[in-house]
Amino acid sequence: MLKIENLSKTFFPNTPNEVQALRNISLTIAEGSFTAIIGTNGSGKSTLLNAVAGTFEPDKGKITLAEHDITDWQEFKRATLIGRVFQNPFAGTAAEMSIAENIVLAMHRGEHRSLRIAVTKKAREAIADKVRALKMGLEDRLDNPIGTLSGGQRQALTLLMATWLKPKLLLLDEHTAALDPKSAAKVAELTKQIIDQEKLTALMVTHSMQQAVDLPDRIIMMHRGQIVEDYHGDMKRRVRIPDLYAAFDRVQKRELFDEAVAQMLEGQYT
Ligand SMILES: Nc1ncnc2c1ncn2[C@@H]1O[C@H](COP(=O)(O)OP(=O)(O)OP(=O)(O)O)[C@@H](O)[C@H]1O
Ligand SMILES: [Mg+2]
Repeated sequence: MLKIENLSKTFFPNTPNEVQALRNISLTIAEGSFTAIIGTNGSGKSTLLNAVAGTFEPDKGKITLAEHDITDWQEFKRATLIGRVFQNPFAGTAAEMSIAENIVLAMHRGEHRSLRIAVTKKAREAIADKVRALKMGLEDRLDNPIGTLSGGQRQALTLLMATWLKPKLLLLDEHTAALDPKSAAKVAELTKQIIDQEKLTALMVTHSMQQAVDLPDRIIMMHRGQIVEDYHGDMKRRVRIPDLYAAFDRVQKRELFDEAVAQMLEGQYT
C-alpha cells in the first residue's frame, strides 16, 4: 500500500515564478491496484510521482510505502522498493550494453556495485523466458546492444527491467507517449499484462483517455496541484472517454468562474 498524507511542494517560493505544484495532496493506493493519473499539462502529475520516488524533498507531508515511512529516505534507497519507467525510451537502459546485460543489471538492482555483471547460463534462460513472453521476437537478440532496438522494443524491455524484482510500487510517467500508435498500444497491453500477472501496485500518468479507461482499476484527475476527480470501483467500470472530457470541461469552467469572481472582488476592494 502507498499512503500519501498532506503532501505539498512549491517551486520558486516567494518569487514571481512561484508554482504550487502539489497542494496538500492526500491519497491512499491499495496494494495490488492499478491507478491512472490524468490531468492537463502542468497539473502536477510528474511532480507527484517524483515526490514519491524521492527526486526532491517536499515542503511538507508524509509518504508511507509497504509499511515503511519513506519520507526521509533518499532516492537510491527508495529505488529498492520502486520501479520506474519514463517517457523517454532512452532513459533507464545502457545503450551499448546488450539486452541480456541490461537485464542482469536490473536483476541485481540495489546490490553493491562492485558486483561483476555476468550473464550466467541460468540467468540467460530466465531472461530468454521473460523476453519471449513479450512476443516481440527479441529472445533471439539477447546479445545485441539495446541501443539498436526501436523505441517500442526498448520500452517493453525497460518495463520488464523495472518489474523484474517485483517492486512494491511501479511508477509509469507517460511511458508510451513517445511511441507510434501501434507500439504504444503494444506497450500498454504489456503493462497491463505484467501488472496483473505480478499483482503489482502501479501508478501510471497518461494523456491517453483510451488507456485510462481500458487499463487501470482507478482514475485520478489532477488540476493545479490538487486531486479533483477520483473514479474507482463501479464508477470506474462505468466511466467512458466522453465522461472524462466532460470532467476536464467542468474543471476548466470552475476555474474560469473562480477567476471571474476573484476579478470582481478585486474590483470591489481596490
Ligand atoms: N523542478 C522544477 N522546478 C520548477 N518548477 C517545476 C519543476 N518541476 C515541475 N515544475 C512546475 O510544477 C508544475 C507541475 O509540473 P508537472 O511536471 O508535475 O506537471 P505535469 O502534470 O506532469 O504536466 P505534463 O502533462 O506537461 O507532463 C508546472 O507548473 C511545472 O512548471
Ligand atoms: Mg509530466
